[in-house]
Amino acid sequence: MTLTEKVESRPRPLVAGNWKMNGLKSALGEALAVDKALAAEVSPIGAEVMICPPATLIMVMAELVGEGSVTVGAQDCHCAVSGANTGDISAEMLADAGASAVIVGHSERRADHRETDRLVREKARAAHRAGMQAIVCVGETIGQRQADLTLEVVARQIAGSLPDDATADNTIVAYEPVWAIGTGLTPLVADVADVHAMIRQRLCERFGEAGIAMRVLYGGSVKAANAAELMAVENVDGALVGGASLKAADFLGIIEVYRTQTVP
Ligand code: 13P
Repeated sequence: MTLTEKVESRPRPLVAGNWKMNGLKSALGEALAVDKALAAEVSPIGAEVMICPPATLIMVMAELVGEGSVTVGAQDCHCAVSGANTGDISAEMLADAGASAVIVGHSERRADHRETDRLVREKARAAHRAGMQAIVCVGETIGQRQADLTLEVVARQIAGSLPDDATADNTIVAYEPVWAIGTGLTPLVADVADVHAMIRQRLCERFGEAGIAMRVLYGGSVKAANAAELMAVENVDGALVGGASLKAADFLGIIEVYRTQTVP
């Protein structure tokens, strides 16, 4: 199956950029350049495009590109609506600032802030409560992969991190092997296919029809050079991109694989 045929038979893929803790106001031009390039396309690109900047840039980025071809997401949220949580930001605040989605359970937060599946699930519920999509991240460490625990670990994260109210509209899963993040390493295509097939099976078992339509992104060292191969894998419905989303030209090189007329 070509990528074009695959895209036609699946929900619209999503290419989301996670800027992590990068980007001052001076970086907004990169988001604007992506938006302008997509708006100038003769036929619409076959994927949704999102940028998740640091919280400080959400409002101004949403104002800059909000009505255009790029949507704006956030990178984390607190579970509560409001309260005595110094330094935290609620899902409602992110939505109010113009975010339509929020990444929850990124491995950097699971590792650096000791976030558990249970907390990630609560954050996903908070996103839904605020009317946003939750992009729920899962993925194994190198040790877990070497111990042949990948499928078990990811299945456990899927079971624990997704709330019962997840639907194909309000939830997106992102499989990001921890060892592939920022390293230039990627799993073999066959390994990506195995993990995504298992995720799809679990989603269908738990959510029925919604599990078929729920998008499952791949993330970890996605760049223009490997995007076509990774995005063509069955059950891969787009990408979550870190480093290669910071510069418009790099990010557009990835988005390019969803340009319908040039897809192999
Ligand atoms: P890189 O694309 O830099 O490997 O990061 C992936 C990631 O963590 C996106 O959330």
